[in-house]
Amino acid sequence: MTDRYCVFGNPVAHSRSPAIHAMFAAQCRQDLSYEAILAPLDGFAAALAGFAAAGGKGANVTLPFKEEAFALCTRRSARAERAGAVNTLAFTGSWIFGDNTDGAGLVQDIEVNLQFPLAGRRLLLLGAGGAARGVIAPLLERRPAGLFIANRTAEKAEALAGQFCELAAVDAGNLGKIAGRTFDVVINATSASLSGATLPLPAGIFAPGGLAYDMMYGKGETPFMALAREQGAGHLADGLGMLVEQAAEAFLVWRGVRPDSAPVLAEMRERLAA
Ligand SMILES: NC(=O)c1ccc[n+]([C@@H]2O[C@H](COP(=O)([O-])OP(=O)(O)OC[C@H]3O[C@@H](n4cnc5c(N)ncnc54)[C@H](OP(=O)(O)O)[C@@H]3O)[C@@H](O)[C@H]2O)c1
Repeated sequence: MTDRYCVFGNPVAHSRSPAIHAMFAAQCRQDLSYEAILAPLDGFAAALAGFAAAGGKGANVTLPFKEEAFALCTRRSARAERAGAVNTLAFTGSWIFGDNTDGAGLVQDIEVNLQFPLAGRRLLLLGAGGAARGVIAPLLERRPAGLFIANRTAEKAEALAGQFCELAAVDAGNLGKIAGRTFDVVINATSASLSGATLPLPAGIFAPGGLAYDMMYGKGETPFMALAREQGAGHLADGLGMLVEQAAEAFLVWRGVRPDSAPVLAEMRERLAA
């Protein structure tokens, strides 16, 4: 019987996960289906229970349900515990296992796909929401020279820094506090690009030859990438690679095999450009 998987979100119609997992399944010769399910904002738990009861084997979770999914799990991976949010669920009997593959996906994209090692680099993470929270520990595990978390609302960045400071030195503040500093890797984990807004970033924060990475992706350059290019960032990347890599990691959790992400990323890039 075909195993069923899905992604829950609200909204979710735009999700590219069904296309990505269909390609992974074909490549790995796995008999599975993967659909996008719109869960009501106040009905995620019921939608999840219904899917599992109908024989669903696992699910991805996207905005705005990652924290609620975390709370519903009966078991969690260490990286999900650290993140306080889950994007991957696996159902086994009465167990709901929760994992967070966002950070692993980001690191894989930066270090393997983009060939940009993080060890010894000065990192700046913009944003302090769910996406930022999920990637902090995986970034720190790469042993950067330091990490600064900057957010429009400084208190949220400071709270995150406090939660992760036992792993490494983590600095935090509002966007103004990064003035006068320079970073080798600047990661945009804010949702500013979604609304087309340009972040009010001080000049001079991008080290020559450094990487500016926007978790968002789209047909062309995002507003953050355009700003980074104007300010002299040497390398620009959007979050399509992170999306494909976090999906490959979820596929590994569910099926015990990690698909080759390169051809899938290339195909998704072509579809995005069309
Ligand atoms: N590529 C991938 O695989 C992937 C995976 C996960 C997420 N993402 C992307 O990551 C982004 C963030 O997602 P999320 O789940 O973390 O969202 P979230 O929890 O809603 O957090 C949003 C963050 O953006 C900041 N922000 C929003 N509008 C802003 C503006 N105009 N100026 C400055 N800061 C602003 C917020 O600051 P305040 O705290 O001050 O409100 C907050 O830190 C989204 O674009 C999402 O699509 C991509």
